[in-house]
Amino acid sequence: MTEHFMPLDPQKIPRHVAIIMDGNGRWAQRRGLHRVRGHVAGAESVRVVTRLARKLGVSYLTLFAFSEENWQRPGMEIRVLMALLRRYLHRELSEMRDNRIALKAIGDLSQLPEAVQRDLEATIALTAEGARMDLTLALSYGGRSEIVQAVQSLAREVAAGLLAPEDIDAARFSRSLYTAGMPDPDLIIRTSGEYRLSNFLLWQSAYTELYVTETLWPDFREAELGKALETYQQRQRRFGLTQEQIEALEASNSRP
Ligand code: FPP
Repeated sequence: MTEHFMPLDPQKIPRHVAIIMDGNGRWAQRRGLHRVRGHVAGAESVRVVTRLARKLGVSYLTLFAFSEENWQRPGMEIRVLMALLRRYLHRELSEMRDNRIALKAIGDLSQLPEAVQRDLEATIALTAEGARMDLTLALSYGGRSEIVQAVQSLAREVAAGLLAPEDIDAARFSRSLYTAGMPDPDLIIRTSGEYRLSNFLLWQSAYTELYVTETLWPDFREAELGKALETYQQRQRRFGLTQEQIEALEASNSRP
């Protein structure tokens, strides 16, 4: 592994890292290649970044692999992305099992081609046990749709008399999202220099640190992840408190 970054503090590795993998198309176009060649190179970044995240002790890695808006792309590009996803699942299964990585998926999975759904289900089942890291792929995912489906499921429970409206709080709401049971992301990384969330983890990112790099996703490898984590470790997360309150909390937590 090539490490061009400062040693990281093992106590401050973010528990949940989520990534908006952007810039595959531009990476290819700059080389005079077809856009889909960028996705092929991007799939290699997925492999490299997943391996390093696991090694560094990240517990949850969530990757925005296909948005609900991406269905509007040319049919050929969608087919290549679905084929790459299947190839990734087949090729990485043994590595996931060896390294105790559990595959998960969030999004409107019913929209995916049946073969992809089958491969996802199989990989999820075969990697579920004894996991040290969850690798969650957001597929046919949209943050607003996720919130809408959560509202609908809560409304159905209220209408059926199973839930009182006043019992709906933030924690109960979180449990109705695709990400139920996962901690909110500590860090969202976005590649290719765009400063927006693009409908990714809208509810879950309330207190998330954001890191944007100009690097295009196919060029985002070990050193780039190291840089992102190094920057994260230098941030002070305040969750709406004052600096003095944070320092007092840190002092009380570090007491023997
Ligand atoms: C954004 O680049 C990327 C995507 C829409 C798809 C991400 C897919 C991969 C990284 C490869 C396959 C995934 C897995 C999990 C194996 P873009 O095409 O929007 O780039 P552009 O903004 O430069 O056009």
